Amino acid sequence: MKTSISLAIASIATLLLSSSVHAAPIDASAASGQTGVILSATDYCIFLPPKYGGDIAESEDVAVAFCTKANLAGAPNARVLPTGFIASSHYIENTSKGYVQITGRIDRSKYGLSKDDGGGQYDLRAPVGSKMTGYNAFVQLTEPDAEIFCIRACKNKSDCPVNKSTYGCEKVLGGDYS
Ligand SMILES: *[C@@H]1O[C@H](CO)[C@@H](O)[C@H](O)[C@H]1NC(C)=O
Ligand SMILES: *[C@@H]1O[C@H](CO)[C@@H](O)[C@H](O)[C@H]1NC(C)=O
Ligand SMILES: *[C@@H]1O[C@H](CO)[C@@H](O)[C@H](O)[C@H]1NC(C)=O
Repeated sequence: MKTSISLAIASIATLLLSSSVHAAPIDASAASGQTGVILSATDYCIFLPPKYGGDIAESEDVAVAFCTKANLAGAPNARVLPTGFIASSHYIENTSKGYVQITGRIDRSKYGLSKDDGGGQYDLRAPVGSKMTGYNAFVQLTEPDAEIFCIRACKNKSDCPVNKSTYGCEKVLGGDYS
């Protein structure tokens, strides 16, 4: 009896092991899909919950990069934004300060986000492991209730304020939300 239980456990372990081996590439790409990039007004990424309809704040540790196009240089394994999710966007490059910024409107329905979701902030601390290629810091606020978003990637961390997460895009980064 003991032996057959051990055998059963051993074969379950083998099954788990082999299924996790098969799943590894998918898991690895999910984990490594947390690097975004802002290349231009049209080629950039933002971070969103990994699951359709996810809550912004509740997903802060697991959010992943979604880009305007597939295979953007500097955003390995990032996903592509749902069509129509970005309703408008405005790009600013501040060359003297060394930051780039995108602000604008989202259509929350294109990713099932809730009108009751007041949103939240993503930065280097959360999602854990997140990065913006070519920059030392970033800050993103996503507000599904107001259907606006903003993201800034900074060479100098002091230009990416992360201590005002409840103030919302317009107060933290300013910019154009038309
Ligand atoms: C860059 O930022 C500085 C300091 O906030 C500001 O004075 C300047 O006008 C900005 N430049 C651009 C091109 O936005
Ligand atoms: C970063 O920005 C702060 C505040 O504007 C400034 O005092 C500091 O010199 C900057 N650091 C670098 C490396 O540019
Ligand atoms: C955030 O940090 C900046 C720079 O240290 C500071 O000037 C500002 O008062 C802080 N804001 C809040 C709400 O803590």
